[in-house]
Amino acid sequence: MAERILMIDDDAISRKLATHILEGKYDVICASSGAEGLQILRSSAIDLVLLDLYMLDMNGLEVLQQIREDVSISDTKVIILSFSGIRTDVIESIRLGVLDFIRKPFLASDLLERIQAALSIERKDRILVVDDDNINLKITERILRIPYDVICVSSGTEAIEYLKEHTPDLILLDLHMPDMNGLELLAKLQCKSELADIPVIFLTADNDQAAEGKILQAGAMDYIQKPFSAEVLLRRISRILELYHYQKSLQREVEKKTEELLEKNRKYVNLSTQVMTTLASVIDAKDTYTNGHSLRVAQYSLELARRMGKNSQELSEIYYTALLHDIGKVGVPDEIINKEGRLTDEEYQCMKKHPEIGATILENISEMPSISVGAHWHHERYDGSGYPDGLKGEQIPEIARIISVADAYDAMTSNRSYRKLLSQDKVRSEIECGKGIQFDPKIADHMLEMINEDRDYKLHG
Ligand SMILES: [Fe+2]
Repeated sequence: MAERILMIDDDAISRKLATHILEGKYDVICASSGAEGLQILRSSAIDLVLLDLYMLDMNGLEVLQQIREDVSISDTKVIILSFSGIRTDVIESIRLGVLDFIRKPFLASDLLERIQAALSIERKDRILVVDDDNINLKITERILRIPYDVICVSSGTEAIEYLKEHTPDLILLDLHMPDMNGLELLAKLQCKSELADIPVIFLTADNDQAAEGKILQAGAMDYIQKPFSAEVLLRRISRILELYHYQKSLQREVEKKTEELLEKNRKYVNLSTQVMTTLASVIDAKDTYTNGHSLRVAQYSLELARRMGKNSQELSEIYYTALLHDIGKVGVPDEIINKEGRLTDEEYQCMKKHPEIGATILENISEMPSISVGAHWHHERYDGSGYPDGLKGEQIPEIARIISVADAYDAMTSNRSYRKLLSQDKVRSEIECGKGIQFDPKIADHMLEMINEDRDYKLHG
């Protein structure tokens, strides 16, 4: 799997050039500002950052400072890419732990070689040792300092201070300390999500099973009896760190895959929305007088449903269902749909078939079975006098009752061949009078609320 490189640079040409060089060998993501770069870094697994030193919104040193201060990304490997560097800035970036400094314009071979070198640098694991006994601290440090970076502190309070700005890979923790014992410190770490995963090994002189039980129950990975041999300490630490890194890389892999799946899902959702909106405009194009009707009914239905307290999944189903509620009109001849005068009985009977035609078409969308319901029953009336089935009250599916109110509102607030749009007062009184007859009274109340809030009568667009 290719390593992932984030390039943060406000210069589009540099981004394009570096992407061209690195593509195929690495997974390259670009950010055109410091803020965007930090946001990507915090939400994705990144192996290396190529950072421009001088940018307009936030300079590279500020970005670097923020990276080092945020424990979730503070270990990120960074290479500076810049046209030139003021000496003090170069020194500061070295102090902030950059691995290399590449001057622009760069050669492709040089860039690739130095990225490869930076990626292959193995960082030593960092171990925080917390013990109030100075002799123990010194012994432990001596044993660990060659294979590991060791930080020694002599109290729980000092440990907490250190952990505010750093994330070690493992903590060795003395059980008995005067200001805060090891178990109390562990409990505090577990409350902080960014520290809760760090493996903790207890060091204890206690030799009883009760203490052992308490330590493991509190969430420690292991405990080591004092006095310990160098070999035991090194073996146990190395075994636990191996497990910890394995879990971390597995977690990163899962996060990356999840991110990829979410991205794919976003694309499918966009595609579905575009296909459904296109279908809706095909329906609306048949009817010259009600252009945009489906989209408006979908928007009113969405707002009604939002006021009814529906969750986001329900809201999106309602939106799509309303968008396609009139799809059955594709089966009604254009001359009937666009007829200027009154329809004959025969024409009206033909028009009344569109709900069932629509339901039959939409039944094929098995991924969203509810979508055919809106088309099927949006002309039912609350008192049972509607069509096609004469359903009454709550026999009519709720989604169809919502669309029915939205549909009527749009019909009254649109210009038709035979009349102009109605005044807002007239629309209000029609909805009011239709409560319990044509409309579900509760849904009609939400529509009235929307009308009353629409003081300038602009809701209908
Ligand atoms: Fe309809």
